[in-house]
Amino acid sequence: MNIAIDGPAGAGKSTIAKLVADKKGFIYVDTGAMYRSIALYIIEKNINSDDEVDIKNACDNIDIKIKHEDGVQHIYLNDRDVSTDIRKEEVGNMASKAATKKVVRDKLLNLQRDIAASNDVIMDGRDIGTFVLPDAELKIYLTASVMTRAQRRYDQLAEKGESPDMDKIAEDIEKRDYQDMHRDIAPLKQADDAVLLDTSDMTIEEVISKISDLIDNVK
Ligand code: DC
Repeated sequence: MNIAIDGPAGAGKSTIAKLVADKKGFIYVDTGAMYRSIALYIIEKNINSDDEVDIKNACDNIDIKIKHEDGVQHIYLNDRDVSTDIRKEEVGNMASKAATKKVVRDKLLNLQRDIAASNDVIMDGRDIGTFVLPDAELKIYLTASVMTRAQRRYDQLAEKGESPDMDKIAEDIEKRDYQDMHRDIAPLKQADDAVLLDTSDMTIEEVISKISDLIDNVK
């Protein structure tokens, strides 16, 4: 069984998908981590992300592997575990940029479909229900208002001891939404057959319970 969860940055997709996967015995696949790994390579090698030839060469030199260790997804970029390094804000922004390129998307598509073909997965991203897994048994479009998402991000960073700038966070979220929703290839949008869940006024427990019910109704 395949479950697709799509939605904008900061909607809580990975937190929710991870918890639901644990509860329901699915493998959680974070496709954003794949785009982030390519972005990390671009940043570290100082590659011009607007140069099609350079991006194509980079993709040819990149090998991405996903491994599940004790139920947790680890992502390997050319055999280096980059699971932590890809979490920086800068990497997310570059991932959104790199994700507009066809060569980058094509590279990750087969990897994503192969994992879904041989496992029960909850896969999250931007184009899973619309493009990667159009036949997923359950599709969810998880969203929340910009201010709610910015506040959650702010709280996460503050908890880590950082001094975040709320306006800058909200601005980054809006910029990323725009870029992900307006690109030519596989833009972020709700699939026609996806269930819309706006989590602005929901607790994590409420969202998990709602998705668990939806899964039970499919089985
Ligand atoms: O979910 P995330 O923030 O880790 O994703 C980083 C970027 O990767 C996101 O802004 C757009 C891109 N992405 C994508 O285009 N398609 C996906 N299925 C997942 C992520």
